[in-house]
Amino acid sequence: MKLQIFALLTCFCVSTADFSPPVVNISLDVPADQRWAPLKNLFDMNVLQEAASEVIDKTVPKWVHNAIKPVVRALEKYIPQPYAGEIQGLASIYGSDISDIVLLNFAYEVSAFCTSIVTQDIKGNIYHGRNMDYPFDVLRNFTLDIHFIKNGKVAYRGTTFAGYVGLWTGQSRNKFTVTANERNKGHWWENVISAVFLKRSPVSWLVRRTLEEASDFRDAVIRLAKVPIIADVYYIVGGVRPGEGVVITRDRSRSADIWPLDPLNGNWYRVETNYDHWLPPPKRDHRRDVAMKALNATGQNHISLNTLFQVLSVTPVRNRVTIFTTVMSAAIPDNYTTFVRDVMVLHN
Ligand SMILES: *[C@@H]1O[C@H](CO)[C@@H](O)[C@H](O)[C@H]1NC(C)=O
Ligand SMILES: *[C@@H]1O[C@H](CO)[C@@H](O)[C@H](O)[C@H]1NC(C)=O
Ligand SMILES: *[C@@H]1O[C@H](CO)[C@@H](O)[C@H](O)[C@H]1NC(C)=O
Ligand SMILES: *[C@@H]1O[C@H](CO)[C@@H](O)[C@H](O)[C@H]1NC(C)=O
Repeated sequence: MKLQIFALLTCFCVSTADFSPPVVNISLDVPADQRWAPLKNLFDMNVLQEAASEVIDKTVPKWVHNAIKPVVRALEKYIPQPYAGEIQGLASIYGSDISDIVLLNFAYEVSAFCTSIVTQDIKGNIYHGRNMDYPFDVLRNFTLDIHFIKNGKVAYRGTTFAGYVGLWTGQSRNKFTVTANERNKGHWWENVISAVFLKRSPVSWLVRRTLEEASDFRDAVIRLAKVPIIADVYYIVGGVRPGEGVVITRDRSRSADIWPLDPLNGNWYRVETNYDHWLPPPKRDHRRDVAMKALNATGQNHISLNTLFQVLSVTPVRNRVTIFTTVMSAAIPDNYTTFVRDVMVLHN
């Protein structure tokens, strides 16, 4: 691997089979249950439903799926707006049982492996990138870049999968960017219990609410650190001013740790995969170390959205199950870029 070449690259050097996902406008000005109707023009609903069944069948054991149906129907009562309305609308678009759409939204919540990186260049510009790793190839075809429209203008944007109302990746123009990475603790049904009995928010709904409501980086960090959620997670946030980058390690009820950029002391990037940053990652998973080496080889004077994309493309940071890569910088919101990655053929 010739890491030095990163510095020379000025383009997004994607493989020919990488592609940009469809961009879709979802209007927050129309009732929640009609918002996702534009998906009808983008996808064959039968194919979409098959994909949803595949995710559910592989994530949720059949007996649990059956046992949980009545619970999930009751859950509908507990889901806050606008998500309840949006999920209802999706269920009618898909022609599915609403419990399947609810399960789909909880199933995604639990098996996402990811890499997120927030960096600062020598001029103080902040760049934020992520790989979304997920063991379902079919999702490559259901990845969407979404503009959420309010009063006729883009209020915030994000990348997600069709059928899923939360965001793991998003940007509030000229304010901040957010990604979430799984922090693998507990079982998914504990998430359902936590949602039903404690009325907590799924981690991806808090991302969306924060993108919609937070006034700036600082406000976003406070919300993402404090609002109770149903599962442990890492929130990575980038802002628009020097020093505005942080990894928040979340327990369900509060933050366990806040790890900011510290560029004055040479810490111009933070890499988060799926492990607490103060602990060594498991021996079999080299993503963190390889990403740091690639960032070191790139150098703070050469970091940009393009070179960050290249860092996120190095094996195994990018791996067999990487569905998409997004790079973004809230200060240059129109440069938000997502590529759905080619199914990778592993050599060696
Ligand atoms: C995605 O869609 C294309 C064209 O419809 C199809 O050929 C391909 O197999 C699909 N990919 C996956 C991973 O399902
Ligand atoms: C989405 O909405 C924005 C703002 O109204 C508009 O400028 C843009 O053309 C729309 N894009 C699509 C793909 O419809
Ligand atoms: C990256 O560079 C920093 C600063 O020189 C060094 O402390 C760190 O060990 C390097 N990390 C890797 C993975 O090479
Ligand atoms: C943002 O996009 C513009 C227009 O494509 C480009 O000239 C500029 O270099 C991009 N900035 C970064 C930091 O990638």
